[in-house]
This record gives sequence, C-alpha cells and structure tokens, in this order.
Amino acid sequence: MPAEKRVFFSSVYGSSQAYAEEIAKQLGREAVDITDVELPSEGLVEEAPLIFVGPVYGVKLLGAENAACVARELDKALISQGSAKHVAFVSVGLTDPEKAAKKDSSAKFFGDEKDRVERFYVPGRIHYPKLKLAHRTAIKAMLLYYSSKPGATAFERELVASGAIGFDKVDVSLAAPVIKWAETR
Ligand SMILES: Cc1cc2nc3c(=O)[nH]c(=O)nc-3n(C[C@H](O)[C@H](O)[C@H](O)COP(=O)(O)O)c2cc1C
Repeated sequence: MPAEKRVFFSSVYGSSQAYAEEIAKQLGREAVDITDVELPSEGLVEEAPLIFVGPVYGVKLLGAENAACVARELDKALISQGSAKHVAFVSVGLTDPEKAAKKDSSAKFFGDEKDRVERFYVPGRIHYPKLKLAHRTAIKAMLLYYSSKPGATAFERELVASGAIGFDKVDVSLAAPVIKWAETR
C-alpha cells in the first residue's frame, strides 16, 4: 500500500500538471505523472476516490484509458459501497469548459466505462512557439476551421485572435469542485 494517496496526471506542456499539483496540494496527496505509464489497476482501492487529470488532443484524452480501467476495477472491488463513482477525470482543453461540460465532450473517451467516471472540465493553455511540429500543424487546421466557422463562439474567436502567440486560461482555483467531490466522497 502506498504511503500517500495520489493524483494521477498526463501532460505534454504542463497545464494538466498544474491542475493536478493544486488538487494534490489541497487534498494532501502526491501528484504523479502517468503520461507514458500504464497504471496497474490493482492495489488502488485504498486510494479511492481517485482523480485523474489529462489534456484533450483532438481524438485523444490522455490518461482516459487508464482511468476507465481503474474505474472498472474499483467498482468491482467496492461493489458493497453502492453505485457512487470512485474515479474522477479532469479534462483540460481549449474548448470553453462550460460548453464542454454541457456537452460532456469527454464521455466518449471512456467507452463502456463512461458511467463509472465523474467528469470535470477546466481550461488549459497553449503557447504556439513552444508546440511540437505535429501539434503546431494540427492547431493551424483547428484555427483555420474556427476562423471560417459560421457562428463561432467568443471563445473560438479569441482562439483565432490569439494568432501566433497563444493564451493561458489555466486557473487552478477552477479545480475547487474536484476537490469538493473528493472530500465529500
Ligand atoms: C494539436 C492539439 C490539439 C488539441 N485539441 C484539442 C481539442 O480537441 N479540444 C480541446 O479542448 N483542446 C485541444 N487542445 C488544447 C489542449 O488540450 C490544451 O493546450 C491543454 O492545455 C494542453 O495540456 P498540457 O499542457 O497538459 O499538455 C489541443 C492542443 C493541441 C496542441
């Protein structure tokens, strides 16, 4: 059994890590990077409720597969405790978080386990000059789409206007509902 409970995160440019570290700090846990690691789902019961934080990259939500596996295993192990969810996933992205939450846009990443995972949405950041080439190319296409999209939202227009620089919407205080969820579980 680990000495300390953990908050798991995946991150490429650090914004998901910032949220994970704040959540961990507030809950007296340790933030642990699982970006390139498959987390074994055994032995995590003692750490429930578990929190994962990860960014959306187009058709991927980093860490979602891990979280789905763990949620399935925890539900089996904790079946006597009823139907409350034992795993939360905090999606970090550039889509307006209120809209993402309304659409519950990360649900699809959890497949059959989607009803086992509590989902939260927080805003990320992007700094174009620092992007890897593949990411820069992909983001250009996204901006092009938004720039000609009829009825683009204020957030999408802001993204387009951010041009060659980018912007930072990270606000770790927005993780408060996640902390409350963990504390009241
Ligand atoms: C290539 C690329 C694709 C992205 N796709 C999405 C997306 O589909 N939806 C979204 O909300 N954010 C998207 N983002 C924004 C990232 O989720 C955001 O920059 C996040 O803060 C990155 O997290 P990290 O710093 O932890 O790596 C994308 C960013 C890049 C570079």
